[in-house]
This record gives sequence, C-alpha cells and structure tokens, in this order.
Amino acid sequence: MKETFPKVVGGVPLESPLILAPMAGITIPPMRAFFRKLGAAAVHTEMISGAGLIRSSVKTKNMLAVCEKEDPVILQFFAGDTDTLYAAACKAEQEAHGRFAAVGINMACPMPKVLKKGAGSRLLQYPDRAVSMVRALKEFNLPVWAKVRICSDRAPLSTEMFCEKLLEAGADNICVHGRTPAQRYSGTADKESVMKLAQLFPGKISASGDVFEPEDALQYLNAGCVSVFMARGALKDPFIFPQTLATLGFSVDNRLLCPSIELQISLLIELGDHIAEMASPRLAEILIKRLLSGMFKGIPGIAELRRDCASFHGWNDLRRLMSGCEHYFERRDVLCRPM
Ligand SMILES: Cc1cc2nc3c(=O)[nH]c(=O)nc-3n(C[C@H](O)[C@H](O)[C@H](O)COP(=O)(O)O)c2cc1C
Repeated sequence: MKETFPKVVGGVPLESPLILAPMAGITIPPMRAFFRKLGAAAVHTEMISGAGLIRSSVKTKNMLAVCEKEDPVILQFFAGDTDTLYAAACKAEQEAHGRFAAVGINMACPMPKVLKKGAGSRLLQYPDRAVSMVRALKEFNLPVWAKVRICSDRAPLSTEMFCEKLLEAGADNICVHGRTPAQRYSGTADKESVMKLAQLFPGKISASGDVFEPEDALQYLNAGCVSVFMARGALKDPFIFPQTLATLGFSVDNRLLCPSIELQISLLIELGDHIAEMASPRLAEILIKRLLSGMFKGIPGIAELRRDCASFHGWNDLRRLMSGCEHYFERRDVLCRPM
C-alpha cells in the first residue's frame, strides 16, 4: 500500500495519505503540532470566517497563526459569497504569505449559524456560487481544496455533478464527508458513495466520515481515495495515526505503536502547556480532558485517573495531578496498550 500511495495530494506533497481534518474549536496550532508528531501528514486550520477576517476581527486574525513543526497546513475558509472569500484570501496572503500549503473552502458545515450566512453546506444548493469561489481562489497560486457533503435529493445537482463542476473550475482536491447536511453527525457515513466518487474522479477525491479504526482508512484508500481526513476518531484515540500508518505499511517508531504510560503523560503535559501558552489555560484543561477520555486504552488505573481529572479545575491543578499520576497505574507490567 505504501508504494501505491500518491506522493502529492491535491497539489501538496505528503508523506502519507493521513490528514488531520479541520475541526472548529480543536485544530488550533498546538493540537496540529501534536497530531503531526503522531503521524498526520498534513493538518487543517479550524474553519476561518472570511467575513471575520476582512472585518479585522482580532480573534479571526489570530486563527492564521501557525507554530513550528506543523507544516504542511491547509487553511480552511467559510464564506457566503465569492467577494467575501476573495477579500479574505487577499488579507490572508498579506498577513500570512507562504504559511499555508493549500487553501480550502468549507462547503460541508451543517451548523445553523454558518448556513445562515449562506456558507458551509448551504453552498451545495448554489453550485454556481461554489464554482465561482473555487475560480476566485485559483488566483492565489496555491492549490484549492473543497470539503463537501453528500447532496440531498432536493439539491439542484447530484454530488457527482457538483464535484465535476468544482473540478472543472480548478479544484485540486475535494474531500467528501459521506453524510448529507441534514444528517449532521448522526447515523453512519455513506462510505460507498464516497468510494464511488473516488472511482469517478481518480486522484481527486479525499474521504471523510467514520474513520475510527485503521481499517476504515484502509477501506477508503483501497477504493481509490487519495487521502483520508481523520476527525472524531483522532480525538477518541490520537494513536490511530501511527496505528494506521503501520497498517498501510509505513515504518513507525515502536514507541508510538506501543506508547508507554510515561510517554502518553509527557505528550499530554507538553500539549497542555503549549495550549495554555498559545491559547488559554482554560482551553488546555478542556482539550486535555477530552483527549484523556480516549487515551491510556486498556491500562488498569486509567478510570480512576480520568475520574479525578474530571473533578480538577484549571490547567495548573490538572497538570500537577497528571505529573504525579504514576500511582494510579498499579499494574506496571501493563505498559503497552492492546493493539
Ligand atoms: C468538533 C468538530 C468540529 C468540526 N469542524 C469542522 C470545520 O471547521 N470544517 C470542516 O470542514 N469540517 C469540520 N468538522 C467535520 C470533520 O472535519 C469531519 O468531516 C467529520 O467529523 C466526519 O468525520 P468523522 O466521522 O471521522 O468524525 C468538524 C467535526 C467536529 C467533530
């Protein structure tokens, strides 16, 4: 599998086909650097509001920040019209020239506050606008990526025709999340439809949806998807990256395939410190607790540590608890998580 994987995906040279998906509130720079360290070949920013950026909102401008060891990063925008998107891309070019490997358009978000602006998956109902957005971004000398969902029966075009139009307009990569907007995150992703699109548009379709085990990624890639975007599966178990890489035949540091308690704790503390410094101690607390709920799989003592962490508030206290948490893991012979 390793040998058959394309070295360039959507105009971006990649070491593997595994990409950290864009996740609002989550894929901030320290999290992206963390997942790069675990094996993500590329990472996404959170979706960034085009309108917010041109209004010079400080919060939105800060979202263009990139820290060391993250490259390649794909910048993802959401916008309701082409002028806003174009102006935002001009602003990003001024503020962050050379920082990003590709620029993406969110045509997938089903959340009401994004739909209300005519953005996200609302664009599936306005194919001409979606096409003009792709054309506008092609001026920036960066690969243009789009992220879409499956079109509902009431949409003007089928998903296949929608993708065809975006590709004709110059999109370099289209990631398809196999759910309709109305499904939001419920039910199961329609992997068959995503894989069919990959067959129809060879080398152009990336997959998203329900990647919780290495085999899920393998299934998409075997069907011709050029890359797989990992989202909730990566939050549930960040070590899905090294495990999937190994399944695909890449050589992976054994310490990541069989991570010790000490390594997992030190990675979390380093990540928490980084988030506290770059964003806020409160966000460090939230995100570390979220990751903790899936890490240390199968290690006796973790349930008690998770319970105690949940009752601690503030990153400093949580950090102190985690720094001295060895006594929770009474069976020190179980250092390795079961594969
Ligand atoms: C918390 C969260 C935030 C998300 N934010 C974005 C976003 O900013 N842009 C986007 O295109 N998709 C976003 N998504 C969708 C994911 O990128 C992905 O397509 C979706 O979760 C399906 O993959 P999964 O089933 O493997 O989680 C988000 C998903 C989650 C869970």
